[in-house]
Amino acid sequence: MLSEMPGLLDAVRSRFAHVDTCPFAGPRVFLENAGGSLTLRSVVETSALHAGFPDNQGRDNPASRALMEVIARGRADAALLFNAPGGQVFVGESGTEVLFRLVRTAALGAAPGGTMLGSTLEHPASRSAMARWAEVTGRPHLLAVHDNATGAVGVAEYLPHITPDLRVASIVHTSPVTGIRVDVAAVVAAIRATAPDCLVVIDGIQHASHGAIDLTAYGADGYAVSPYKMFARHGYGIGWASDRLTSCPRETVIGGPPQAWEQGTRDSGSYATFSDVVSYLDWLGGHFTDASDRRARLVAAAGAIHDQEARLGEAMLQGTDNHRGLSEMPGVTVIGGADNSGREGVVSLTLDGMDAADLVALLAESGVRTHIRKNDHYCGNVLAPLGIDACVRVSYSHYNTLAEVRQFLQAMERAVQTAARGA
Ligand SMILES: Cc1ncc(COP(=O)(O)O)c(C=O)c1O
Repeated sequence: MLSEMPGLLDAVRSRFAHVDTCPFAGPRVFLENAGGSLTLRSVVETSALHAGFPDNQGRDNPASRALMEVIARGRADAALLFNAPGGQVFVGESGTEVLFRLVRTAALGAAPGGTMLGSTLEHPASRSAMARWAEVTGRPHLLAVHDNATGAVGVAEYLPHITPDLRVASIVHTSPVTGIRVDVAAVVAAIRATAPDCLVVIDGIQHASHGAIDLTAYGADGYAVSPYKMFARHGYGIGWASDRLTSCPRETVIGGPPQAWEQGTRDSGSYATFSDVVSYLDWLGGHFTDASDRRARLVAAAGAIHDQEARLGEAMLQGTDNHRGLSEMPGVTVIGGADNSGREGVVSLTLDGMDAADLVALLAESGVRTHIRKNDHYCGNVLAPLGIDACVRVSYSHYNTLAEVRQFLQAMERAVQTAARGA
């Protein structure tokens, strides 16, 4: 366990910027990781370094060659982290844009006719891309309906819609509202059994910082992550496309390489900072395995992160030391249930007698940063069926500590008392 190895949690925390103090608001516990994780210090340095380089790629000079090596290394590092079976890694404007590009390419490249299938659990990024390109290509956009009780969706919900003429499917790996992971390998296998040529796109944006990614095992055609949610920075998204999806036609400059997914000059800093993330995970994983193989160390890091977060989640929900957990606090409801083995870094909750906005403010006054999620175009897909107007999303990462969870639980006790007085 990460927190049980002497000095390791401190070493982890020392690698991140603004770990316990907000540069604008002062000391705070950061439980807003699903809105964007903390940033590695190495990423901050690398970003500044690359911002200063004037050289372009594809030139016959040492600077240009160095930048192209950085880009090649970034792609190779991402492919290793994803355990990609061939295919292409590319950088886009954001996770949303990468998802749109993957879905657009799949919808336009698939055989005409048939259907497109997603789920009601998806973030609007993939769901909107699917809806738009289903409309443009004249296909019905079918939706597997997620389970309100578990906050997830699975084979059982996808199955009724899987027919041999299914052309494009989308799956969210982990919901950013419920925080519950979907068994993507099982859903892809169910699709392949009936519609082997279906192009499947997975939104890995919430999952990526919480557990291993294994594209070889999933058998999908597209995957998207957002680096600012996995210890890097804003300003880019990373996509992966299978050879099959890459062979579909795409917009590109005339005469450009047909396998290219990217347009124009690359920002070498985006690739370099993603390599920083992979180096960090490699370093972390090295504490949990003696393996000389890098992929094995990345898998070990994912396991350590998962275990540490499970411990933090358990403490939040079931209590720790003399602090009772959320599951015992009167009036607190946890979306997806307090006992859910699929939980990844998110606890979304409501408190009877207190508006979510007031609860976020009360927690902030107690030095704990969380975020409200409203029944709007971002989260209405999860909150509306539950009849909830808004909830508070508490999102944690492996660098959070049990002391921080205790500070949060203490603040929640104050909120529970305040709500009870007002009721
Ligand atoms: C699951 C999921 N998909 C897509 C997005 C959108 O990502 P981006 O902000 O990089 O466009 C998010 C962001 O919250 C997300 O959690």
